[in-house]
Amino acid sequence: NSLRHVESMSQLPSGAGKISQLNAVVLGESLASEENDLVFPSKEFSGQALVSSPQQYMEMHKRSMDDPAAFWSDIASEFYWKQKWGDQVFSENLDVRKGPISIEWFKGGITNICYNCLDKNVEAGLGDKTAIHWEGNELGVDASLTYSELLQRVCQLANYLKDNGVKKGDAVVIYLPMLMELPIAMLACARIGAVHSVVFAGFSADSLAQRIVDCKPNVILTCNAVKRGPKTINLKAIVDAALDQSSKDGVSVGICLTYDNSLATTRENTKWQNGRDVWWQDVISQYPTSCEVEWVDAEDPLFLLYTSGSTGKPKGVLHTTGGYMIYTATTFKYAFDYKSTDVYWCTADCGWITGHSYVTYGPMLNGATVVVFEGAPNYPDPGRCWDIVDKYKVSIFYTAPTLVRSLMRDDDKFVTRHSRKSLRVLGSVGEPINPSAWRWFFNVVGDSRCPISDTWWQTETGGFMITPLPGAWPQKPGSATFPFFGVQPVIVDEKGNEIEGECSGYLCVKGSWPGAFRTLFGDHERYETTYFKPFAGYYFSGDGCSRDKDGYYWLTGRVDDVINVSGHRIGTAEVESALVLHPQCAEAAVVGIEHEVKGQGIYAFVTLLEGVPYSEELRKSLVLMVRNQIGAFAAPDRIHWAPGLPKTRSGKIMRRILRKIASRQLEELGDTSTLADPSVVDQLIALADV
Ligand code: PRX
Repeated sequence: NSLRHVESMSQLPSGAGKISQLNAVVLGESLASEENDLVFPSKEFSGQALVSSPQQYMEMHKRSMDDPAAFWSDIASEFYWKQKWGDQVFSENLDVRKGPISIEWFKGGITNICYNCLDKNVEAGLGDKTAIHWEGNELGVDASLTYSELLQRVCQLANYLKDNGVKKGDAVVIYLPMLMELPIAMLACARIGAVHSVVFAGFSADSLAQRIVDCKPNVILTCNAVKRGPKTINLKAIVDAALDQSSKDGVSVGICLTYDNSLATTRENTKWQNGRDVWWQDVISQYPTSCEVEWVDAEDPLFLLYTSGSTGKPKGVLHTTGGYMIYTATTFKYAFDYKSTDVYWCTADCGWITGHSYVTYGPMLNGATVVVFEGAPNYPDPGRCWDIVDKYKVSIFYTAPTLVRSLMRDDDKFVTRHSRKSLRVLGSVGEPINPSAWRWFFNVVGDSRCPISDTWWQTETGGFMITPLPGAWPQKPGSATFPFFGVQPVIVDEKGNEIEGECSGYLCVKGSWPGAFRTLFGDHERYETTYFKPFAGYYFSGDGCSRDKDGYYWLTGRVDDVINVSGHRIGTAEVESALVLHPQCAEAAVVGIEHEVKGQGIYAFVTLLEGVPYSEELRKSLVLMVRNQIGAFAAPDRIHWAPGLPKTRSGKIMRRILRKIASRQLEELGDTSTLADPSVVDQLIALADV
């Protein structure tokens, strides 16, 4: 048995949850105890790990906190800089009381992240190493690119973009599924200093248009269609609608470069606008396979990625080049204990931050072999993931709890009929992983052999913030364990006072880290208000968190009006705005409810216009409205008819009450006497099953 557990938590040091207390945890000296849930890495694993003990972690973490400039500049020196950064490694102001929020890392350093991902690796002799194993939706459809080939493909696209007027600092929107062309497109933009804005290809035309209008690209990169599982999705039609919409809103996109995905459709079946639309394959191959790098400052923008907030339209999170580069590379390396022989697969789509930092940049900065999967993880059957793991000998597998939970519902034989011997590290991201899913992932998928890195982070943080280092820590299922190097999480109470030791509260971060986002595109004020004003002096994550007596961090979910559906962030306000666009909807209020597979589901209370009767058809058309406005992934799971909504006398909707009704915790409604009309609560309860 490669696992060792401790007999009881009393074997661990008790008292305030400071990391240093884990000093006393000596690997391998303990016995089993289920309820205490301490899962140790095996001696074999720790023995080969980059960080092999809590002590080593603590020394490194201490150094990163005592002297962040030295810690990060040592790491940064391993990358290629055309010119080294200035005397100051970083400068920051995270305190709104002291002036505008600003974060800079490696300012004055001149580099290029595409160069560091590709050219540097090719020059180091990795040219023939596989960079991408691409696995198509259908069984038996695959392709691969070595680092040299990937570099050539990237250069051809970069040359095309340059030739068509894209310059340093210009935004390029990418609306592609998980074809190899997606990471190629990101890297090509980075090579020429253009700022990519990848929009997840599950967003609707309206959402895409909204993002186009915000960042005003002249070029959009897409494909005509894609197959996902048994379905064909006509992406070009969505792009056409989005481009029509955005030109009505005053932003016209000059070029729509369209990859001809013959596996999903034909050119003849693709609607075409001459002059604007260009077939990718018709032009790209004519361009040279080498392309000069555009050298940029460490603080020049690398990409924009829109994410949902609790109010208003999606926010354009802006990341810059140098700090993000060093941070994604380093977090990838340590959190997955990366070795050059690893084959790495992250199931996330590049349309989300996970795909940016841990499909493309982090792994490629380390010269890793990356699996890129186009399809759905349960197609043609629930064993597909393990089929892919065996096919490519995947050793690091990084996914989301929602996928774990959905696969867990099927027979274990879908897993166990595959060898999975190559696996050595598992990873989880997107939401707290419930202990039963953790155990299934660990015991069944990983054969009780592979540590799980439960990585807590956000679009805004650029990279992992709280994460196990798999060889260092005994794990507790469901805890993201301890902060990464250079990260100082703090838990504060509602007044913003830091709480020490064992506690629960709001998760903030003190001080900056290289991968932090620098602003919200075009709205620095919103950046300050959302993240730095709620608790002055800190970055506020929007998450609740507790710390146990051993110092382990346990994330407890969003504390704002953001719902986490299958690891995707959805603002309640966005869903409400979509619903009220329906001609028969007078008002809507949306809350999150527990969902067995998705983590959270979307529960919408809808008030119809006077005299409109409830009907199943109307329910469907309301759901369709949200699908069309945002995307299928944001479709409400439940529409609850609401003759009225519980409001205070000043008109504020009391979501606390709605949450209780949605989760049928009717005995916990609390005080309803402050409502303008307390009788609406009874009406809502009466309609709960209609
Ligand atoms: O609530 C946290 C949850 O996902 C949010 C960030 O969402 P997004 O920016 O879309 O990025 C997702 C991928 C990094 C966080 O505020 N979250 C993410 N990872 C975890 C998590 N909650 C608990 N444990 C995690 N490992």
